[in-house]
Amino acid sequence: MYCLLRPCFQTGLRLTSKIRLTYVCIFIGLIALLDFFGAFTHLFEITYDSNFVYPYEGDVHDFVNALRHNEEPAVEPINEYKYTFLLNNQQKCVDTAYSTFRLIYVVKSSIENFERRSAIRNSWGFEKRFFDVPLRTIFMLGVHPYDDELQAKVKIEAAKYRDIIQADFIDSYYNNTIKTIMGFKWLVKYCPNSKFYMFVDDDIYVSVKNVLRFIRNPVNYPDYLKEPKKIGAHKREIKDSDKMDNDTTTQISTFDKKSLFVYEKLGKKEYLVDQIIHKLKQNSYNRTLHTIPPINYSKQNSVNLKFPQKENIDSTFTMNRTKRQIFDFELPDDVRLFAGFVFVSSPHRHKSSKWYISLSEYPYHLWPPYITAGAYILSKEALLDMYYTSLYTKHFKFDDIFLGIVAKKADIEPFHCEEFHFHKKDYTRFNYKYVITSHGYGNPNELLYVWNEQKAFGNA
Ligand SMILES: *[C@@H]1O[C@H](CO)[C@@H](O)[C@H](O)[C@H]1NC(C)=O
Ligand SMILES: *[C@@H]1O[C@H](CO)[C@@H](O)[C@H](O)[C@H]1NC(C)=O
Ligand SMILES: *[C@@H]1O[C@H](CO)[C@@H](O)[C@H](O)[C@H]1NC(C)=O
Ligand SMILES: *[C@@H]1O[C@H](CO)[C@@H](O)[C@H](O)[C@H]1NC(C)=O
Ligand SMILES: *[C@@H]1O[C@H](CO)[C@@H](O)[C@H](O)[C@H]1NC(C)=O
Repeated sequence: MYCLLRPCFQTGLRLTSKIRLTYVCIFIGLIALLDFFGAFTHLFEITYDSNFVYPYEGDVHDFVNALRHNEEPAVEPINEYKYTFLLNNQQKCVDTAYSTFRLIYVVKSSIENFERRSAIRNSWGFEKRFFDVPLRTIFMLGVHPYDDELQAKVKIEAAKYRDIIQADFIDSYYNNTIKTIMGFKWLVKYCPNSKFYMFVDDDIYVSVKNVLRFIRNPVNYPDYLKEPKKIGAHKREIKDSDKMDNDTTTQISTFDKKSLFVYEKLGKKEYLVDQIIHKLKQNSYNRTLHTIPPINYSKQNSVNLKFPQKENIDSTFTMNRTKRQIFDFELPDDVRLFAGFVFVSSPHRHKSSKWYISLSEYPYHLWPPYITAGAYILSKEALLDMYYTSLYTKHFKFDDIFLGIVAKKADIEPFHCEEFHFHKKDYTRFNYKYVITSHGYGNPNELLYVWNEQKAFGNA
């Protein structure tokens, strides 16, 4: 009996162990798969909230202020990109005709993109567009270390156009942060006399007119340009003797006797914050594997756009002053504007992703709000604060995230505007009226065609 049963028993045992092995294999495979897709990484993520810290782990405001005033900071910078400018043009922002500039374009370009640069010089980067709006365009390049022919060509281009800035880091996708901050560094050093700076990639359509309109009045762009809304009984014109309607919800007046403008809760901080959050919520892209939890914005202590307070307008009312403040709007010199298309999203933990990020590189479940890299505008104050804050921010390989972290550390809230199109906005003659920038113009001929057509329509 024993002898008879034994083989069966053994076979049975072998069979169960085989099955068990299969289960173990499946189990291990599943674990590996889950790990590959980042399931466990997510478990160990830290919640992104107001306690967010990123090295340097401490308040950097005093160090930034010290550096801005040429003083010795208490703690030395932890992350300075000390590359050398091989091609420089220190005279670019020195002009006897202008003490300050309105706008400097910093175009992130690659050495080999000669044609794109040429198209930009002949379209939105053209410096002599408006005699009363001083603009400058510079191209920021890295190097291709073993290509002497390319380098020789760039040297000729730089000598001819005097708009090439090149630093000696290797030009590659994962070095974009270096390119960006070397651009900041150059501006801080050689071109600090502009009110606004715009960083743009070399494959982007830019409407110069809309950029200038936007920096006049970012919060109400593009509504303040649109035809008057029908507002029935409230509609009236303001004569010089009139006092402005002191209703807190709506203020109405005329401009150039043509357009009627509506300003809701002018100068009310809450309104600005609400508007920004509303836009953020509506438009944040899903560059994520899972849904985005809402961010608690109630802690936000600073809105970086300061607008004239209603009380001031009431108490010191004069028509010319009001006109200047409201209709011929000009942001104050100390405004800290960092504007573009804002994302609220989480890091990729999926190991095959181009944007994969390990917990040791970044442990939080969300990025700080950041502006997509293709195009963004900074005011001078924002540029200076962010440059010096970047010196106290650990290197991060994605430039847009890096700037988001820097802005967070500097208490600058990225300002969202949908008219900075992250994807290419399908082109028709008529739907580019309010477009500030659009991605997807890597073909120089297409850029020139679209730009010239829009210019003819008065939209570029
Ligand atoms: C970035 O540039 C540095 C300096 O040239 C170089 O050492 C490094 O390999 C580059 N990194 C990448 C990812 O190309
Ligand atoms: C509006 O202004 C008028 C006169 O300037 C004043 O009498 C009135 O109380 C004000 N109304 C409000 C709601 O502040
Ligand atoms: C983001 O995801 C939500 C829900 O999954 C969806 O309704 C929305 O259209 C998505 N937004 C974009 C821009 O893809
Ligand atoms: C947001 O933060 C504030 C201040 O810490 C807190 O009072 C409030 O309850 C929070 N709101 C939510 C929805 O978590
Ligand atoms: C407003 O105009 C008057 C004369 O028209 C002038 O005296 C005054 O200085 C102006 N005020 C401002 C703030 O420009």
